[in-house]
Amino acid sequence: MGNAAGKREKVLRLRQEECDIDIDALGHFSFGIAPDHEVQHYMPPQFPIIPRLTKDRVQTCMRTWELVQSASTEKMKQYGKPGIVLFYDEFFYRLFERDTTMALVFPNTKQRGEVLIKALTFILGVRADAPADVENVKNSCRFLGHRHRTFMKVRPHHFATYAMTLVEVVMYWLGDMASHDVGQAWSNTTGFILRYLLEPYLFSRTDPYELYQNTTIAAVREITESTAQGLASAMDKSGRASRSSEHK
Ligand code: HEM
Repeated sequence: MGNAAGKREKVLRLRQEECDIDIDALGHFSFGIAPDHEVQHYMPPQFPIIPRLTKDRVQTCMRTWELVQSASTEKMKQYGKPGIVLFYDEFFYRLFERDTTMALVFPNTKQRGEVLIKALTFILGVRADAPADVENVKNSCRFLGHRHRTFMKVRPHHFATYAMTLVEVVMYWLGDMASHDVGQAWSNTTGFILRYLLEPYLFSRTDPYELYQNTTIAAVREITESTAQGLASAMDKSGRASRSSEHK
């Protein structure tokens, strides 16, 4: 008792004017975000231009993911393997076929599986019951995007391929159950998350060369440089031609 009373005396109470930070404000993403046109550029072209997050869509994603995870669709049953194994194999097969640089980000199989589970858990964990929930999702996506800035070898163009392949493989394994509404639900939910994840990820990080296209950076560089050279030599030739005609 005496001890508790002694402790109480030591409690330090800060008055508002003595605090130089507002703790609540730290929960809001307050770092830089990229302009809309850059974010739009790195969104998968197959996704809705303005993805909308709704309660129904989130529930559809959760319901259909359950079917994939338990391998209970007609298409999956025939393989007799766990749903997550079939999903993982198809997903990474398509991902590496599309972009070989993904292998630099995910050199080991265990880590790439863990990241995929983390991404799916994040997507399926969002809530959109009320407008305030949707605002909270935007905020957590921005923090998540900010965190992706620290992951080695991840490049802006990876996000579109990754997100698009993820939705595509869900639809593939759903087979007959992959209706238009299910596609809408997955591409809007994943698209919404991606949109707000890209905002901080892309902040002050885009390469003007890369902005021309999503993946073929080397080819763009080659075209740009050869066009510049072509122009220079054409100008050079026309300069020479006009000079020689002046002499005649
Ligand atoms: C819809 C898109 C994505 C979502 C929702 C997502 C989600 C997540 C989540 C929740 C984590 C865990 C974060 C933490 O530990 O604090 C994570 C980690 C990570 N993500 Fe993503 N991610 C996405 C796209 C990508 C892409 C496109 C790449 C690269 C190609 C990527 C690479 C990584 C890596 C390397 C990690 C770190 C894993 C580790 O801790 O070792 N993510 N992601």
